[in-house]
Amino acid sequence: MAISERRPLVAGNWKMNGLRPSAVEFSRIMAGSAGLAGKVDLMICPPATLIRAFAEQAGTSGIAIGGQNCHAEPAGAFTGDISAEMLKDAGANAVIVGHSERRTLHKETDAEVCAKARAAWRGGLIAIVCIGETQAEREAGQTLDVLGRQIDGSLPDGVTAANLVVAYEPVWAIGTGLTPTSADVAQAHEFIRQRIVEHHGVAGNSVRILYGGSVKLSNAKELMAVPHVDGALVGGASLKAEDFLGIAAVYR
Ligand code: PGA
Repeated sequence: MAISERRPLVAGNWKMNGLRPSAVEFSRIMAGSAGLAGKVDLMICPPATLIRAFAEQAGTSGIAIGGQNCHAEPAGAFTGDISAEMLKDAGANAVIVGHSERRTLHKETDAEVCAKARAAWRGGLIAIVCIGETQAEREAGQTLDVLGRQIDGSLPDGVTAANLVVAYEPVWAIGTGLTPTSADVAQAHEFIRQRIVEHHGVAGNSVRILYGGSVKLSNAKELMAVPHVDGALVGGASLKAEDFLGIAAVYR
């Protein structure tokens, strides 16, 4: 499949940021998104407390809403957790699973991430599965080994272009202002593409692979031009409508 056949996706990961007044910033994103419709898919993943309000606000604007994590089970005695079904019920279309902050701070394993991706599908959500190497792993020349292991362990059987997005996020690039070179991103994304196709067949050619980690206005154009980069997962810069829209406007 030619790159142009994969509609780019720019998703904002708000992490643990945002209170009800953030609806104003979300309105700004909605207002500025009109000119981008049809060229790039937009998604905001706010904290769970804002999903319902943002989903209602988004209406028919075409901006998708995603969660940032889910439990593998649909319901039960799991105090403080949230299921894919609950996210869907609140108005989400997708959920990020296996973000490095969850893998590191909550010790999530590939097997757990895989179970969460399966849960996302069960709940009717797109799974945005994050993978990426640490600085130590990169320095040890293990980047592709780590990515291969994470892909093999974190993606359930049954991958389609409609149910999966993969986000390559080098851990050392998240929130640091550092980014890999275009050549490094190209190598990683091509490897990820091949590995998905190898294990999941031709559907892997249509799965979108996002780059994430310090994406900002000044580097978005260069990063998004790399082959097999089908969009971005944006953290810090997605909190400001102007920056988020500016990044998405790379695809205008
Ligand atoms: P960042 O975060 O853009 O702030 O580096 C990206 C992410 O963690 O998804």
